[in-house]
Formats: sequence, C-alpha cells, structure tokens
Amino acid sequence: MNFQLTEEHEQLREMIRDFALNEVAPTAAERDEEARFDRAIWDKMAELGLTGIPWPEEYGGAGFDFLAYAIAVEELSRVCASTGVTLSAHTSLAGWPLYKFGSEEQKQKYLRPMAEGKKIGAYCLTEAGSGSDAGGMKTTAKLDGDEYVLNGSKIFITNGGVADIYIVFAATNPEEKHKGTSAFIVESSYPGFSVGKKEDKLGIRSSPTTEIVFDNCRVPKENLLGVEGQGFKIAMQTLDGGRNGIAAQAVGIAQGALDAAIDYSKERVQFGKPIVANQGISFKLADMATGIEASRLLTYQAAWLESNDLPYGKASAMAKLLAGDTAMSVTTEAVQIFGGYGYTKDYPVERYMRDAKITQIYEGTQEIQRLVISRMLTK
Ligand code: CAA
Repeated sequence: MNFQLTEEHEQLREMIRDFALNEVAPTAAERDEEARFDRAIWDKMAELGLTGIPWPEEYGGAGFDFLAYAIAVEELSRVCASTGVTLSAHTSLAGWPLYKFGSEEQKQKYLRPMAEGKKIGAYCLTEAGSGSDAGGMKTTAKLDGDEYVLNGSKIFITNGGVADIYIVFAATNPEEKHKGTSAFIVESSYPGFSVGKKEDKLGIRSSPTTEIVFDNCRVPKENLLGVEGQGFKIAMQTLDGGRNGIAAQAVGIAQGALDAAIDYSKERVQFGKPIVANQGISFKLADMATGIEASRLLTYQAAWLESNDLPYGKASAMAKLLAGDTAMSVTTEAVQIFGGYGYTKDYPVERYMRDAKITQIYEGTQEIQRLVISRMLTK
C-alpha cells in the first residue's frame, strides 16, 4: 500500500493551488455576494486543461485519472466552493455519462468540446416532486418521427443557464418507472428548452442553480444516451462517481476553513496570549485536522478505486457522508474560533460555513448515502 501521491499528482496540485490562490480566491467573496458566475475563470480553467481531467486525449481530455480530478475539485473548493462544484457537475455529472454510455459520435460531438472547456455540461434529474425518490420523475419523452419530444421541468440544476449541454432524464414509458426512464443529451439551443427560476441560495452562490423547462422540446433521436429504459441506471451510476466529486469539494471547503482558523488563532491575542495557546482552541484544531484527513483518505481511496476499474459506489457514498459532515462541523468550529468576527463578512469562514451545508444535501442527502451504504452492506 502506498499513500504517497505521484510526482505528477503533486505537480498538478501545486499548479491548481497557484491558480486558485491567484485567479479564483481574489473575487470569491464578491462573486458570492453578487451571486455571479464568472465565465472568464472557467475559460482560464479550460486553458489549464482542468475541464477534462479524467478523459482521454482523443476526447479532448488531459488523460489523467479520477484522483487528479478529485485533487482539482479539492484545491478549487479550498478557496471557492462554487468554482469547485461548477467543475464537479460538469465533469462527473455531465462528462461521465457521455464518456461511459455515449457512442463514438456523441463523444466527439459533445464530450470533446466539454473536455476542452468550450462547452459547459449539466445534469437534470431532480424535479419538484422527486428529489430523493429520483425514480418518481414526471418529465416525459415521447418519440415523434425522428425526434423525442420532452415535456416537464427539472429543478436545482447546477450550471443551469450557463451550461450548453444537459444530460436529461425523462420517462419514455411512465408505467414502468425505473425501467421506463431514458437519458438524453439536450443542447440549450433546442426549441422548447428554457431556463426557469434562478435560486437565491444560502451558499455556493456564484454557482448558478436553476430550473430547466422542457416545453415540447424536440431532441433528435440520435441524442438518446445509451438505450431506451437504461436511464435510471445511467443516473445512479453517474451519481456513484459524482458523490466523490462532492466529497472532494467538502474536503476542500473544510481545509480552507481550517487554514483560516489556524492563522487567526495564532494572531488573535486575548488575555495577553494568542488564543491558540489555549487547549480549548488548539484541541479544536486537532479534531478539525483529523476529520479532514480521514475524509481526504476516503475520498482519494474512492477516486483510486474508480481509476483502477474497481467497485467504488460504496466508497464514494462513504466519502461524501464523512466529508460532508466534516465540512459542516469544521466550518462551524472555524466560525467559533473567529468569534464575533467569524460571523461577519470581513472574514471568509462564514462563507465556508454556508457553502459546507450543501455538501450534506446535494447528489443525495446524507440520509440517502446511508441508504446506499447500508443496502450494499446487506445485499
Ligand atoms: N448503479 C447501477 N444500478 C443501480 C444503482 C447504481 N448505483 N442504484 C440502483 N440501481 C438499479 C437497481 O439495481 C434497480 O435495478 P433493477 O430494477 O434492474 O433491479 C434499479 O436501479 C432501481 O433501484 P432501486 O430499487 O434501488 O431504486 P429506488 O427507487 O429505491 O432508489 C435511491 C434508490 C438510492 C434512493 C435513488 O433514488 C437515489 O440515489 N436517490 C437520490 C437521488 C440523488 O442523489 N439526487 C441528486 C441529484 S443531482 C444534484 O444533486 C444536483 C446537482 O446538479 C449537483
């Protein structure tokens, strides 16, 4: 067993850390305040090859592995969780199903420009009435000649409005529920596609989250992803890996908050000494660091399993469960260490705390992770 990252992984981390500190961090607070997505940051990520890390070069990717991708999401999230999830949804939720289930033609047409960062991807599963019960979706797709006609609406879509390519799940045979669900590649330019309400969120505010509406949206037949009826499994398998992207995001958020808390506790003087001199503070830091390290190990392990074609669904759910809870507790403790200042927007820890909360909710709530893990333990 070797816990050491390769030199290539270390170099990649250095490069992304440098980019994150110099190009992403300076505007993170302002973009959060204004709930503004910055395409220029995305374009720079594309130039650095970050928009297609795990995909082979023949599809415009960097030919790296899922560990490299996890490191990228972690480092971006360490300064800006919104930028982290933009990359995560694009890569894990939209790129992955294209890579795994797309035809050669679909990969060249859609995965390549996405990997090159010319196009952004999104994933449309959740509906107003079907969140955790993903199989209960009401959006339908009916074949009409050479096109499927999609009707319905999806909510809470990460990258909604800024994405060009949407992986959409719809019922082709509603009576059959899971077995009657299919997956489609939908371009934002198709007639009948529109972007609905943009959510005003607690955290990850510079990552747009919107409703996506399909009103007789006509999708060419050749944009069916996989085969008819395979959609639910595609959705679930996509989330198996996607959850590890969120685990990496959570690790990054927690690390960013810990870094800030360490610096502050060494600078802040009360009762004539830096507050870190009190075990009430230094023991908190020790617990925070321990939780982060355990979360990171689980996250990297899940990424390693996927990179080595080994089963990773359980590991990924465990990583997200632990890392999401760790991010929430670590950021809350970071605010506590900052005291009253931590509750203001003068310091970044309140943003980290707001951003952490979503990692316990999206890509399956913590309760759904427990369901997934326990089912795998007992099946
Ligand atoms: N891989 C492959 N197949 C799978 C699978 C997986 N991981 N999970 C389930 N399946 C298959 C099952 O084997 C079963 O197949 P058969 O019918 O052939 O036996 C079929 O799918 C139905 O499975 P279940 O009976 O287990 O389905 P269920 O209705 O009980 O649901 C669930 C299972 C785990 C609760 C699932 O609904 C789920 O994951 N819910 C949470 C959804 C979620 O994570 N949503 C987040 C959306 S994305 C997001 O957050 C926004 C964003 O953009 C970031």
